[in-house]
Amino acid sequence: METITDKRKMQQVCEALRASGKTIALVPTMGFLHEGHLSLMRIARQSADIVVTSIFVNPTQFGPNEDLAAYPRDLERDKGLCASVGVDYVFAPGVENLYGNRYQTYIDLHQLPNHLCGLSRPGHFRGVATIVTKLMNITKAHRAVFGQKDYQQVLVIRQMVSDLDMDIEIVTAPIIREADGLAMSSRNTYLKAPQRESALSLSRALHKAQEMVSSGMRHSSQLIDAARSFILSFPETAIDYVAVCDPLTLEDIAIIEGSALMALAVRVGSTRLIDNTILTRTSAINP
Ligand code: PAF
Repeated sequence: METITDKRKMQQVCEALRASGKTIALVPTMGFLHEGHLSLMRIARQSADIVVTSIFVNPTQFGPNEDLAAYPRDLERDKGLCASVGVDYVFAPGVENLYGNRYQTYIDLHQLPNHLCGLSRPGHFRGVATIVTKLMNITKAHRAVFGQKDYQQVLVIRQMVSDLDMDIEIVTAPIIREADGLAMSSRNTYLKAPQRESALSLSRALHKAQEMVSSGMRHSSQLIDAARSFILSFPETAIDYVAVCDPLTLEDIAIIEGSALMALAVRVGSTRLIDNTILTRTSAINP
């Protein structure tokens, strides 16, 4: 496994790989890797000759009062984990190398970011769409793998790839959870011991909502009310949003006819956590 920190070098390496007929899969990450990231890399490993994992804490997707400076980082540990799942290249550039000081081009979507995390994190998806495009252009990947935990992110990226006729396949991988149901996230490391218990309220609320739907509940408002009260019964929780919406457009749904996305963003102490599931009228989730 080789680590590359310069974008031009990465581009040249990937150009040569492509010219020799190799397929490339990209796994974009912000590092501090966990089992969820490794599951994306394993999928990438199975689907391409060459796996590139990018590790870059992207400043343009953080708001002014968010955790950019505190975001956990450990490149040496990350490299070991990447090697353990057969990654070929770690691309770990610095901010200067990727953006420079004359940077002025951004990608803005006009509808999908007007929901869920886009409302509480203005500019977040502009930063995500921009960095993901840059990483795709640098690595010239044939496909890129993203986790469903960031459900809205995946929709934004799929929409952007379609709108801009980008020649890359987007693969979505299932949410990976701890044994007790907590969705894996680099931000889980911020949680103190009692907060860890409160963090379980997210996956449990989703589970309860699916149980309600399986027993015939169709009204989103009742599902949302139940989830809100359940989450708020745990110490140190504050709700950013609880939404039941169309899985493709993210528009709110009042009555569940087929399937619906239930998405949550909750602060536990000062840590903002997200989780989601597709509610279906027939099957039950297993968070
Ligand atoms: O999901 C993430 O870790 C980030 O949003 C991504 C896709 C690596 C872009 O910085």
